[in-house]
Amino acid sequence: MKRLVLLAVCLAGPVWAEGDPVAGEGVFQTFCSACHGTDAQGNGPMSGILTVEPPDLTALALSNDGVFPVFRVVRQIDGRDPMLAHGGEMPLFGALFDFPDGSIASETGQPIITAQPIADVAAWLESVQD
Ligand code: HEC
Repeated sequence: MKRLVLLAVCLAGPVWAEGDPVAGEGVFQTFCSACHGTDAQGNGPMSGILTVEPPDLTALALSNDGVFPVFRVVRQIDGRDPMLAHGGEMPLFGALFDFPDGSIASETGQPIITAQPIADVAAWLESVQD
């Protein structure tokens, strides 16, 4: 019996953690809503003083042939894809979430290793797409 269980575990392959959208909404409201708005549509209280408008994050899939761009989003938040509005070479969130303890499947199914709060916020954003 034990061998069967072990075989089943081996056949299932490595178990990658996924983002948790419920936890991700909390991360978003704490760290992102000031600019992006509580509904992620870009109208947070700070948006009026920014020279670059925060985009509507609920339309990311629509503008990408209906596919939520997980890989791009994760890298824009953890700072691997530097964006001036997120601190450019000094990423606002890269240092804050600088521990690779989570992962989320990219649109191709490949796991992206990142901090769990970033995987969570990406999962929440995916769940609120138009
Ligand atoms: C200081 C204001 C500010 C904060 C805080 C902020 N953002 Fe942004 N974000 C922006 C702006 C402005 C842009 C547009 C940048 C550009 O187009 O160059 C942007 C762009 C993005 C994009 C890129 C969208 C696209 O079209 O590819 C994503 C994803 C994103 N933000 C997610 C987040 C998340 C998640 C958080 C919280 C962890 C966050 N942002 C916090 C201002 C902010």
